[in-house]
Amino acid sequence: MSSWSDINALYQVYPRSFQDTNGDGTGDINGITQHLDYIATVADAIWLSPLYQSPQKDFGYDISSFVAFAPEYGTMSDFEALVAKAHARGLKVFMDLVPNHTSDQHEWFTQSRSSRNNSKRDWYVWRDPIDGHEPNNWVSMAGGKSWEYDAVTGQYYLHSWLKSQPDLNWQNPAVREAIADIMRFWLTRGVDGFRVDAVWVLAKDPDYRDDELQPGGDAGAYSGYRHTMCRNGEQLGEYIAFMADVANEQGGLLVLEYYSTPEFGDSFPQLYALQSVRKNCTTFFFDPLNWPLTAQAFGDGIAAYIAGLPVGTIPVICFGNHDQPRMVSRYGGEAQARLLAMLEFTLPGVPCVYNGDELGMENGSIPPGQGRDGFGGTGIMAGRDPERTPMQWNGTKNAGFSVGTPWLPVHSQYKTHNAASESDDSVSVLALYRALFTLRAQSVAWGRGTFAVLGYGNNILAYERAFNGATYTVYSNFNDYEHSIELGGTAICSSLLVTGINGATGHYVLAPFESIIVKKGNQQ
Ligand code: GLC
Ligand code: CA
Repeated sequence: MSSWSDINALYQVYPRSFQDTNGDGTGDINGITQHLDYIATVADAIWLSPLYQSPQKDFGYDISSFVAFAPEYGTMSDFEALVAKAHARGLKVFMDLVPNHTSDQHEWFTQSRSSRNNSKRDWYVWRDPIDGHEPNNWVSMAGGKSWEYDAVTGQYYLHSWLKSQPDLNWQNPAVREAIADIMRFWLTRGVDGFRVDAVWVLAKDPDYRDDELQPGGDAGAYSGYRHTMCRNGEQLGEYIAFMADVANEQGGLLVLEYYSTPEFGDSFPQLYALQSVRKNCTTFFFDPLNWPLTAQAFGDGIAAYIAGLPVGTIPVICFGNHDQPRMVSRYGGEAQARLLAMLEFTLPGVPCVYNGDELGMENGSIPPGQGRDGFGGTGIMAGRDPERTPMQWNGTKNAGFSVGTPWLPVHSQYKTHNAASESDDSVSVLALYRALFTLRAQSVAWGRGTFAVLGYGNNILAYERAFNGATYTVYSNFNDYEHSIELGGTAICSSLLVTGINGATGHYVLAPFESIIVKKGNQQ
């Protein structure tokens, strides 16, 4: 029986970009297995982005079989070896569960589209044209309209993402049961839980009414509308509870991908509502991605979020993933990314590290014509290739990712930022993540414990954590210049890992964007 409170850090593997072991230029299951020891130095749980059979129009988020692997990634026995070896090292394994849609190549959809009378017809959302047009005005998060006309049966089908990703009809109990069976299939094979994809679109307006156009909104763009109909339907909580209960049959955990939206009120209540549906269920906390990098924005935001957390819930804190610009690029530099890593690992909750962020990887530049992401500019996510460039393992050809031609170009920074060289460098970004994970692993109470913001004067954020009889203060300098503080205790870690920081007391000069952890009292 697992619990979120047992996990010190979650590590997201984007399999396609992680490690290629057979020279075809794409990462594979064996590549993940090869690096479990490495992963175990920064986390004790892994989330695997989809490895399932897929035409790879959305790199695995378009699934043509939920219970088989894409041949380029490997076989069931490769996977069983991965799970066994992960567990032997104390790493939990989370699969990606994509319940909202399938690939148009999935057998369910090929049946569904074959005739209006097919038994799977109602597994997807089919509607008649209205006056020769789409059944409503919904637009896709991948760009373009959300409806595709299918001449075979003269109806439109709904797709909240690419047209090759038709939405399943969650109002149909048979669909829910089919997803439950898929969950059981993986839980029975030893998986510890699921990261659940894009849950906000699972429930929609049952009457498929139009979304309201924003005043002056662009009718062709996702941002042009108030999305009160195409997402967050009333049954969302019920659907989440259903999946959480299925996971719980075998002690599994869920973490929900949910981006809140102003149409449904303040952000935090939306997150709290979902993560308190069941004890084994939590949500990612993505809101900080939208905050300016100031001590006040982070201090106020985090304090308010944590103060309102439903009792006993443990959020998963996330500053990067395969859909978001790399932390270093988003926040303007490595020092800033290190500061955020300090926050992520010292706040209540579970940090989630996107592979490569622990090396300080930055967005890759993708030469014209070499982009692979099929999402277009009018959706909510577009051009996600830069954050998906191959992992940088060492300074050899292709950063050690592949002996073949990598599916996306390797970032030119790999000579200085790679796992091998950073392992030997006591002040590297990797050394920081390892130090932070070690610190957290010494006491799971980091994930709980009390939390209080002490202040953010001079753009220095100070907060206090107390648990197990010890009190820690974390000071973070959000300025791009030095600032001196009184420590009021003994420093135990700096985001810059500067020599001699350990044991420092009294007066201390924080470097630009430096963050430090101080243990109260003069005992280490
Ligand atoms: C989620 C995934 C994203 C994917 C989308 C559709 O947002 O993180 O990568 O494209 O869902 O499945
Ligand atoms: Ca491969």
